[in-house]
Amino acid sequence: MQQYSVEMRGIVKRFGSVVASDQVDFSANAGEIHALLGENGAGKSTVMSMLSGVYRADEGEILIHGVPAKIRSPKDAAQLGVGMVFQNFRLVQSLTAAENIVLGEKSSFWRGSKWIKRKHEEIEALGERFGLKFPVDRPVWQLSVGEQQRVEIVKTLYRGADIIILDEPTSVLTPGEVEQLFETLHVMKAAGKTVIMTTHKMKEVMASSDRISVMRKGRMITTLVTKETNELELARLMVGKEVSITRQEREELAGEDLLVVSNLEVYADHGRKALDGLSLKVRSGEIVGVAGVAGNGQKELAEVLTGLRTWRSGEIEFDGSPVKTASVRGAIDAGISHVPENRMKSGLAGRLGSVDNLLFKSYRSNEHSRFGFLKAAKNRSWSQELVHRFNVKTPELETPVQQLSGGNQQKLLFAREVSHQPKLMVAVHPTQGLDVGATAGVHELLMELRASGSGVLLISEDLDELLQLSDRILVIYNGSIIGESDHEQADREQIGLLMAGIREREKEGSAV
Ligand SMILES: Nc1ncnc2c1ncn2[C@@H]1O[C@H](COP(=O)(O)OP(=O)(O)O)[C@@H](O)[C@H]1O
Ligand SMILES: [Mg+2]
Repeated sequence: MQQYSVEMRGIVKRFGSVVASDQVDFSANAGEIHALLGENGAGKSTVMSMLSGVYRADEGEILIHGVPAKIRSPKDAAQLGVGMVFQNFRLVQSLTAAENIVLGEKSSFWRGSKWIKRKHEEIEALGERFGLKFPVDRPVWQLSVGEQQRVEIVKTLYRGADIIILDEPTSVLTPGEVEQLFETLHVMKAAGKTVIMTTHKMKEVMASSDRISVMRKGRMITTLVTKETNELELARLMVGKEVSITRQEREELAGEDLLVVSNLEVYADHGRKALDGLSLKVRSGEIVGVAGVAGNGQKELAEVLTGLRTWRSGEIEFDGSPVKTASVRGAIDAGISHVPENRMKSGLAGRLGSVDNLLFKSYRSNEHSRFGFLKAAKNRSWSQELVHRFNVKTPELETPVQQLSGGNQQKLLFAREVSHQPKLMVAVHPTQGLDVGATAGVHELLMELRASGSGVLLISEDLDELLQLSDRILVIYNGSIIGESDHEQADREQIGLLMAGIREREKEGSAV
């Protein structure tokens, strides 16, 4: 029997009622690049976090080089030669790249300059060997994201890892950097290392891996040899074959055109073209879903519509008037509300309590302040009422919102965004990371908005959610809408193929 460098058997991990990893079997070989593919929320990070000791499995066993391993902490994992490069880097910003890499070595800061010089050389040599260039003596905050990632990779190599896990490593990189990263992975592979990369991007998987394991909804679906599969097959495995879920009958409510976007061209950070001739329409009383694999322009679309990002060309018309410039204030005043992707980064102020967070966007209005002074007592009772109505569980109104659970933070954010009856709600992955109960609550709120005549643009990677809520589903791919399906016709498989950039069913087998 072949001996794998990594073998995970029957791994179970629960978070409350969510089974993030349901009896997962996974194995990888030394000298291979193994991609772990799946939609957002499939359980990829969770499974790899158990291999790297960040989480402990509830059930199951892990073998490293054929030997049963007890991995209780990242330190245990490191001792077994397992290193992980996380999606959110764990570098100390004020220390240099080299200091970050040697951090944790015995009394590393009390050594003399000779020692430091030797370490720099050692790190540079390691970087050179694996094609990972970065300035070793610069503080990390001065490095680009791509460079920081290289520091993280060298850190794992420096610590002697021969099983290297990279969690969604390409999501922060430019296309050129992605190419470079793949070259590095190949050098690692040639050096006999086990390389495991999680991702939800099929093209990258096809371009870089030897084998592919596909996860869906906490389950391991299958493992394939990359050369023997194609994007079409992968798309099907990722989204599943169940044909559309049943939805309750509902009344057609759509009214006037509310938002009309034509031919939008938008550049992202790094000067990459993020939206390329995108057009769409949202009417009042309608939920328009935008399906797509992350990184196809969703983020930039939401940013433009909420005034956070400017556009190069194309037209935006809202509520009958053309929108001329990007302005957050302008968007708020026009009645556009925003539930952003990262609620703690751009939605809520973690250290402030519920009242302040609820007032964030409306403190200037006469209802909440007079002559520049906030009406404290009134605002408190107003907040109390919202917290109650939206069922936000918080010990006190003043409790810093970073102490609330993800579901309660999201409810608070919705309470704020809905409290002034928006004309249009732009919601980005509004239920990501929420448990079943909180998810149902958010869905209800979106349906209530629809019923009250608001338009909703729902950007989500969760196909079930989109199928359940949307009146129409648009598929975004490479910065434009490449397909549309109304809710009667909505078909999981069709949408899944469009998400992979495959337009027609007839192309089966010849998909590239
Ligand atoms: N720390 C956590 N607490 C609660 N739920 C979590 C946690 N981490 C992940 N989950 C849930 O577990 C599921 C799998 O998540 P994850 O492993 O991050 O998926 P992926 O990496 O494939 O996107 C999701 O439903 C997610 O919401
Ligand atoms: Mg993940």
